[in-house]
Amino acid sequence: MKVTVVGAGAVGASCAEYIAIKDFASEVVLLDIKEGFAEGKAMDLMQTASLNGFDTKITGVTNDYSKTAASDVCVITSGIPRKPGMTREELIGINAGIVKDVSAQLVKHSPNTILIVVSNPMDTMAYLAHKVSGLPENRIIGMGGALDSARFKYRLAEALGAPISDVDGMVIGGHSDTGMVPLTRLATRNSIPVSKFISQERLNQVKEDTKVGGATLTKLLGTSAWYAPGAAVSAMVQAIACDQKKMFPCSVMLNGAYGMKDICLGVPVILGKNGIEEIVEIELNEEEKNHMRESADGVRKVNALLKF
Ligand code: LAC
Repeated sequence: MKVTVVGAGAVGASCAEYIAIKDFASEVVLLDIKEGFAEGKAMDLMQTASLNGFDTKITGVTNDYSKTAASDVCVITSGIPRKPGMTREELIGINAGIVKDVSAQLVKHSPNTILIVVSNPMDTMAYLAHKVSGLPENRIIGMGGALDSARFKYRLAEALGAPISDVDGMVIGGHSDTGMVPLTRLATRNSIPVSKFISQERLNQVKEDTKVGGATLTKLLGTSAWYAPGAAVSAMVQAIACDQKKMFPCSVMLNGAYGMKDICLGVPVILGKNGIEEIVEIELNEEEKNHMRESADGVRKVNALLKF
């Protein structure tokens, strides 16, 4: 299993680190446009191998896509991150051009790859990758829901005073402050609905805190987060590499499912060796359906800004 991570910034490097630590990939190629940067990050990470006990080989390259050839999975993290006060949507001007070029280069050298798109505004960048890469729909996956769900579980555990491992929950919809749909109705603590333990008011607070999870961190850090985004990507790559058939909410091209057409939006899917192996349709109530529709409207507005 060979994995390429484009962008050796904080998210890309964390992603490479978590993949390496889990030791399921033979090789990770880290690529960046900044001269020597990916090489440096790769060398630093390789010097943790004997300490952390992994055999994954991490190589860094400056813009040399030939070194990414025959990658099974490619992750696109490149582009600019948001600054405090910015929305993910405001990044489209710069990031669309980058994602377009990067996906073309990746597919040229790895025509059978599975692409994971992380760059923001992610749902629109995943949509763009579908339009320009020529890859089959099951091989392009936007990372958002896995991260947003992890943040949801963190907030649920905090509200419940329970360990995170006792909590389950999922966030679907767009990866944006207004587009996320945390499914509080279906969230559980040891399979018991969380509404048994906390008030609707507290649950609404959990929902709101989850939706601004990224923005809260951007304000604290001065740039967007990296540990949880890196961990979310690595969990998805592992599900593909190890053919786990694991369910994650991911931004996938919808052409019929959830009553949507020609849009990438977060819904639960099964990830395995073929990428998206199945879109899981769950029954939503009217309120959740309305949120999904509003979320889709928001994503479509950003998609309309794309030029192919
Ligand atoms: C975040 C970025 C990765 O939510 O979108 O932190």
